[in-house]
Amino acid sequence: MADEKFEVTKRQDFSDSDLLEILNGKSDFEELQNQAVSVRKRVYGNEVFIRGLIEFSNICKNDCLYCGLRASNNKLERYRLSKEEILACCEQGYKAGCRTFVLQSGEDMFYTDDEMCRLIYEIKTQYCDCALTLSVGEKSHGTYKAYFNAGADRYLLRHETASAKHYKTLHPSSMSSENRKRCLFDLKEIGFQVGAGFMVGSPYQTNENIVEDVRFLQELNPAMIGIGPFVAHHATPFADFKNGSVKKTLVLISLLRLLFPYALIPATTALGSLEKEGYIKGVQAGANVLMPNISPFFAREKYAIYDGKIYGQNDASKSIAYLSEKLESVGYTIVVGRGDWPTTNCYTMFNGL
Ligand code: 5AD
Repeated sequence: MADEKFEVTKRQDFSDSDLLEILNGKSDFEELQNQAVSVRKRVYGNEVFIRGLIEFSNICKNDCLYCGLRASNNKLERYRLSKEEILACCEQGYKAGCRTFVLQSGEDMFYTDDEMCRLIYEIKTQYCDCALTLSVGEKSHGTYKAYFNAGADRYLLRHETASAKHYKTLHPSSMSSENRKRCLFDLKEIGFQVGAGFMVGSPYQTNENIVEDVRFLQELNPAMIGIGPFVAHHATPFADFKNGSVKKTLVLISLLRLLFPYALIPATTALGSLEKEGYIKGVQAGANVLMPNISPFFAREKYAIYDGKIYGQNDASKSIAYLSEKLESVGYTIVVGRGDWPTTNCYTMFNGL
């Protein structure tokens, strides 16, 4: 046990050159994965948390160069769910066992703070045993505070890349890495469980950039870390770039599990889209969260962030039953529960295990 602890502690202190060695594919993935699985087992056992994902609007004012929802993609049919439609998703999701709902959208300026807050309040009063996660982009401190006061618990905002220079190559000049990071620190200060993350293999990304991502995550110490491979979308300036690697994403999931033993790490849709049952591989690499899509069917295919995104042909109950069966077959179990982040100080708590 003492040795095991030492090993894990040592693992938490990867130097830049250790990280680069791993990212250059020079280390043994199986070894890394085994360590990640053993850390994950000690913290979360075999449990996998599910989050019901509701993609409630694909309208976006931003023009990110990688994303199919970008404002200048005028080929995309846009939609926005009504409050009733959103609540119907929650009802279905709840019956299927979801105790976290994730409201995700493009940066749709239609929703005023008051309107969002009313929606948050209504979901939280109807489903008081559930956590509510928002993923609606960059807002002011005041707006985040209003969302939090209305009852939202968590917020997902990938930092996309920690390097200001790399960030500029992925986004229009109206956006900055500085503001993205400001949002994340504001969210954390307000009291949200915060999720950050990045794409693996995004255009112009270097392994040095990924090292910066790791260091930024260590500074932020988020509750959730979402990573997935970049996947090209035909109607974006990055249409001809090659997709990110599934293998490298899995390596990074294992690495992140070792660095952040308590983090809630999803096996993301992008992973599942590039490889059949990629999300199972994600769990086997150290992920402990799955986010089944519980949006209405008509909306799913319109939320086309990248080409070949899996939409899921099943309603909430069927897709969760399917995931559950798949996971059971490899020794994991879906939990009906909020699946909160257990601590704000992972390092201390983990060493005390
Ligand atoms: N490939 C993979 N992931 C993407 N995202 C946006 N566009 C793509 C793409 N082409 C990710 C971004 C964003 C999240 C909602 O989806 O990281 O934060």
